[in-house]
Amino acid sequence: MTEAILLVGGKGTRLRPLTVHTPKPMVPAAGVPFLTHQLARARAAGVEHVVLATSYLAEVFEPYFGDGSSLGLHLEYVTEVEPLGTGGAIRNVASRLHSGPDDPILIFNGDILTGLDIPALLDTHRSSGADVSLHLTRVEDPRAFGLVPTDGTGRVTAFLEKPQTPEEIVTDQVNAGAYVFRRSVIDTIPAGRPVSVERETFPDLLAAGAHLQGMVDSTYWLDLGTPQAFVRGSADLVLGRAPSPAVPGRTGESLVLPGAVVAPDAKLSGGTVVAEGAEVGAGARVHGSAVLAGAVVEPGAVVTDSLIGAGARVGARTHLTGTVVGDAAVVGPDNELREGTRIWCEATLPAATIRFSSDQ
Ligand code: GTP
Repeated sequence: MTEAILLVGGKGTRLRPLTVHTPKPMVPAAGVPFLTHQLARARAAGVEHVVLATSYLAEVFEPYFGDGSSLGLHLEYVTEVEPLGTGGAIRNVASRLHSGPDDPILIFNGDILTGLDIPALLDTHRSSGADVSLHLTRVEDPRAFGLVPTDGTGRVTAFLEKPQTPEEIVTDQVNAGAYVFRRSVIDTIPAGRPVSVERETFPDLLAAGAHLQGMVDSTYWLDLGTPQAFVRGSADLVLGRAPSPAVPGRTGESLVLPGAVVAPDAKLSGGTVVAEGAEVGAGARVHGSAVLAGAVVEPGAVVTDSLIGAGARVGARTHLTGTVVGDAAVVGPDNELREGTRIWCEATLPAATIRFSSDQ
């Protein structure tokens, strides 16, 4: 039986200001809570047992996913009293695993959208005989990431903190947040205190002579740390660029969920999703955006690369680009908001209050 641990706790619990109630893994991406995509991809790769390691609001996961059987999985939940960090969280769920000491355990960070070839990572682990195998991805600007250089055979040579100077950028390979641990290695992580895999477990293993193997896979990869990244990820799921068996419908320019109402002359494109109970009015144009449940885009509005929170309202003729409108917020008619604007949940922006382009 293939087992996996999914890490969904820690400090970054919310996608502020989009939502104050829903933890990140439950925010819908392409129509279903983001976590569904990760669980469905794991299942498609042959995983049967998943332990969800969380440190907050576990009660929002269980009512939705239950025992996992609707996804063909056996799903268990473990909640930390205090956040234990990534390594501490892994150690904390060890007793739930059924695998033998030499068996591979998959571990996924819960805030990554990726097309990773999971069986290939398991194959790399088996054929290299490594203690831990890591998915590495190449990024254009590695300054925001810890670097993971490897030798000619793919063996990890170091874990380097975020580089501060150009000389410190020795590779463009970064930790992509998916690992295979040999089961017995998990038991060597100290129990009962916070541990970071990147800052403690991996460097300590290297120092002790363990074999850490990197697998560079330049597939789709996105860190969903910000609401803007969430918009991108949702659109890429709808477009089919980010592969997931959990997208509830055919991939394409748009996804309109049952119970949504879209005016016949409204135009949806660029991977836009319109969730259940949401409305898009006459003549509105929505591109690359997510309109969450019960939200309303009024006639003539133009919404591009934006996230419209649950129950929010975008007024008639308002133009939004790269904007996040929090749950139940109202942007009145005839506004123009641009890249980076965030409207807090339940806030109201009156009609004709902000514009950037010249007045005509
Ligand atoms: P450390 O490596 O422990 O310092 O965490 P980090 O802050 O560097 O990790 P990051 O924020 O990159 O989170 C990676 C994944 O681990 C995300 O999916 C988080 O939800 C999850 N995570 C981070 N900290 C914790 C924690 O304390 N408990 C649990 N269960 N998950 C965590």
